[in-house]
Amino acid sequence: MEASILFVDHASDVGGAELSLLDTALHWKAPLNVALMQPGPFRDLLRDSGVPATLVEAGEAVLGVRRGGGWDQGLRAMAGIPQLAWQLAKLAKPHDVVYANTQKALIVGGPAAWLAGRPLVWHLHDILSDEHFSKMNRMLPVAVANRFCARVIANSTATAEAFVREGGNPDLVGVVPNGFSREPFERDGADEIEALRRQLGLEGKKLAGMFGRLAPWKGQHVFIRAVAAVPDLHAVIVGGALFGEQVYEEELKLLCAELGVRDRVHFLGFRRDIPRLMRMMTLIVHASTAAEPFGRVLVEAMLARSPLIASRAGGALEIVEDGVTGRLVTPGDAGELRDAMAKILAAPLSAAFMADNAWNAAVERFSTEVMIDGIRREIALALPAARRKAASVAQPFPADFNTTKL
Ligand code: UDP
Ligand code: GLC
Repeated sequence: MEASILFVDHASDVGGAELSLLDTALHWKAPLNVALMQPGPFRDLLRDSGVPATLVEAGEAVLGVRRGGGWDQGLRAMAGIPQLAWQLAKLAKPHDVVYANTQKALIVGGPAAWLAGRPLVWHLHDILSDEHFSKMNRMLPVAVANRFCARVIANSTATAEAFVREGGNPDLVGVVPNGFSREPFERDGADEIEALRRQLGLEGKKLAGMFGRLAPWKGQHVFIRAVAAVPDLHAVIVGGALFGEQVYEEELKLLCAELGVRDRVHFLGFRRDIPRLMRMMTLIVHASTAAEPFGRVLVEAMLARSPLIASRAGGALEIVEDGVTGRLVTPGDAGELRDAMAKILAAPLSAAFMADNAWNAAVERFSTEVMIDGIRREIALALPAARRKAASVAQPFPADFNTTKL
């Protein structure tokens, strides 16, 4: 029997961590609930997908803490924690496990799980490094995890290693990669993909696609610079300015004007039809300038059989094998990215061969089954011994994702 889970997530927007939670919830067999701290597109997506969700009242002090925020923000947030933890503890009672999906969810989920007498699992989707987080936003979650968590699920070895580097207890960590169903990538026929091109006014063009929320560390500016240097190549940028990044979106549009490529760069905004858009591309680029914790878009591009170029850092090193399933380039180097794109365009047959390898690797290593087995294994480890016996323990994890070196 699978354990019943109360998931907790603070986000209103739909980022990769939220999509990962959704995929888990959709494949989890036991009853579950998702506690959310604010309404918005993520709550709507859960509702449209038939996943139960309950809104709890979180004050602005808790929600207002930013990745780069200091101790003052942290202390102000503390004041809001007891009443939020109390609400969550009540929601947790009918469930076996509290599952925090974000750092803010962990900070309130810790005391809530303790009050409810339930084990706490933290799904860590971020690399806790100074590239991404202030000292306070690294120390606090690690301290809470060491004190309250029964298990920490890291989305990659890179994420697990950063947690341990920040003082996290290595015995708590298990690595579970995001898992994907290949079916959405096989749904549309060639005619439908061609119709989509026409509908977007992109027929007959060579298209370099980039997918992901607009944010400076995701590197859309690097991508635009690289595309500008490849004649006749069009850039299709898919993703919204989530989590307050509207200024960056404006900067990107100014950059296009400055480089004279406004007619070759197409901003599609946030879309929910990623698989078919990916299949429309001549190639797909991942250009994060800081280490990507996992990188869902990498696996999705592989499932779409699109030639892939990715930044050589973080989770990408565990997903893409350079020259075999894609090309890796130096993060932030627009010149290298331009050369890699030009090579793919010049040698479509070898690019297609690489894309085939990538599809096989993605299907084998990043399936929904592998992910659910990994999460089931981690939850079973978190449960008290009596329940652990009853829970089914999953098959071993793929060798390249084990954490024994920690
Ligand atoms: N995504 C989406 N619509 C968009 C852009 C991105 O649904 O317009 C999805 C994308 O397919 C991927 C996720 O958002 O599943 C982004 O996850 P990733 O791990 O690549 O990056 P994150 O934003 O979580 O850092
Ligand atoms: C986070 C990370 C991303 C990862 C996603 C799902 O949002 O930034 O790299 O793929 O979580 O685990």
